Amino acid sequence: MSLRLRLNLMVAGLNLGFLVVLTWLLVDNHRSSIQEEIEAAHRVTVQVLGTAAQTSRVFGSAPAVMVDYLQSLGRVRANEIRLYSDDGVLRYTSPPATYKAGRRAPEWFEARMRPRLEGTVIRLPGARIEIVPDASRAVLDAWDSMSAIFLLGLGFVAVLHVALLLFLRRLLQPTEADAQRLVATTQQLAENREVMRLIQAGVEEERKRLARELHDELGQSVTAIRLIAASIARSGESGGAVQGSARIDGIAAGLYDSVHRIVRELRPAVLEQQDLAAALTDLRREWRVLHPEIELALTLEGDLGDLGEAVTLAVFRCVQEALTNVLKHAQASHIRLAVARREGRLEVSIEDDGRGVAADGQAADVPSAGHGLVGMRERVVALGGSLDAAACVDGGFRVSMVLPLQGDSE
Ligand SMILES: Nc1ncnc2c1ncn2[C@@H]1O[C@H](COP(=O)(O)OP(=O)(O)OP(=O)(O)O)[C@@H](O)[C@H]1O
Ligand SMILES: [Mg+2]
Repeated sequence: MSLRLRLNLMVAGLNLGFLVVLTWLLVDNHRSSIQEEIEAAHRVTVQVLGTAAQTSRVFGSAPAVMVDYLQSLGRVRANEIRLYSDDGVLRYTSPPATYKAGRRAPEWFEARMRPRLEGTVIRLPGARIEIVPDASRAVLDAWDSMSAIFLLGLGFVAVLHVALLLFLRRLLQPTEADAQRLVATTQQLAENREVMRLIQAGVEEERKRLARELHDELGQSVTAIRLIAASIARSGESGGAVQGSARIDGIAAGLYDSVHRIVRELRPAVLEQQDLAAALTDLRREWRVLHPEIELALTLEGDLGDLGEAVTLAVFRCVQEALTNVLKHAQASHIRLAVARREGRLEVSIEDDGRGVAADGQAADVPSAGHGLVGMRERVVALGGSLDAAACVDGGFRVSMVLPLQGDSE
C-alpha cells in the first residue's frame, strides 16, 4: 500500500470518527432536551386543565362547559387533548399543529428520540379529558437542526480532507533539488556500471592474451624440450643420459599439462562456444572426473544459446568461483546448479549441502577477506543484475543471481 493511500485512509478514518462522535453527541443532547421539554409542557397542561376541571364542577354540566373552554384554549404545545363524555362519545379533540404542518421526522428517528412519557386522564362529572404528550414537533425541530449541523460538519470534513491531502501531496512531492540529486545518482550508477563492465571486458581480454602467450610461447618451448629429450634418449648410449632425458621428458610433460590447464582456465570453452548450456555441460563432465566424490546436478531451462558474450561469460565465471568455493569451504557431497531463462531474465543458483551454517547461526567460515564473492557481485551488477550469497537456514550455502536479458519481453 502506498504512503499516499495510507495517509488518505488515515485522514478519512479520522474524519469519519469525528462525524460519528459529533452525531452521537447531538443525538444525546437533543434526546434529553426533548424529554425535558415534553415533560414540562405536559405538567403545565395537566395543571391548567386540572384547575379548569375543578371550576367546571362548580358550574355543573361539565362536558358542555369544558368543550367551550377547550375550544377557546386551542392547541397546547406538545400535547393532544381529547374530551370524551361518559358514554364514550368524543366531544372534543385539539386542532392539529400549524407549526411545520404536514412534516414529520423519519419514523426511525422519531422512535429513537421520542420520550417515554405516559398520558394523563382527568376525570370530570360525566366526562374525562385525556392529555397525551406529542413530541412530534420537538423531534422534527431536533431532526432539522441535526441535519443542518450534520451537513455542515460533512462539508467541513470534506473540505478539511481535501486540504489535508493537498498539503500532504505538496509535502511528499520531491523538490527540484531532490529530483536533480536522483538524476545525478542514477547517472552515476549507470556510469559505474559501465566502468565495471569495461574493466571486466579488459580483464577477459588480458586473460585471453595471457592464454595465447602461454600456449604459444611456453607450450611450444616445453614441446621443444620434450622433443630434444626424446632425441637424446634415442641417440644416447650411456644409461645415465637415457635416464636423465627420460626425467627431463617427465618433468616437461608435467609442465605441459600444467600450462594446458592454466590456458583452459584462462580461456574457458565458453569464450569459443558462446553457448552457456554447452559450456556448463562441459564443466560438469570435467567436474565428474576431477571430483567424483561431490555430485554436481545440473538443470538447464529455456534457450541459453543467444545470451551474448558478456552474460554468458559472467555466468560461467561466477559458476566457476561458486564451485571452487564449495571445494574450499563447504565439505559438501551434493551441489545443485540451476540455470533458467524466464520472463526476460536469467536466474542462476548454486546450492550445496555443506556445512554452510555453524551452530551460532553464522556462516561456518567467517567470511574472509576473499575476492570471489565480491568479484561475482561486480560482474553481475555491471550487467544490471543482482546476486545473493548466504548460508541456508537448514544447512548448506546458496548463491543466486538474476540477470536482466536485453531484448527479452518482461
Ligand atoms: N559454499 C560455501 N559454503 C560455506 N561457506 C562459503 C561458501 N562459499 C563462500 N563461503 C564463505 O564466504 C566467504 C567468502 O567467499 P569468497 O569466495 O569471497 O572468498 P574466499 O573463497 O575465502 O577467497 P577467494 O575467493 O578470494 O580465494 C568464504 O571465505 C566462506 O567463508
Ligand atoms: Mg572464493
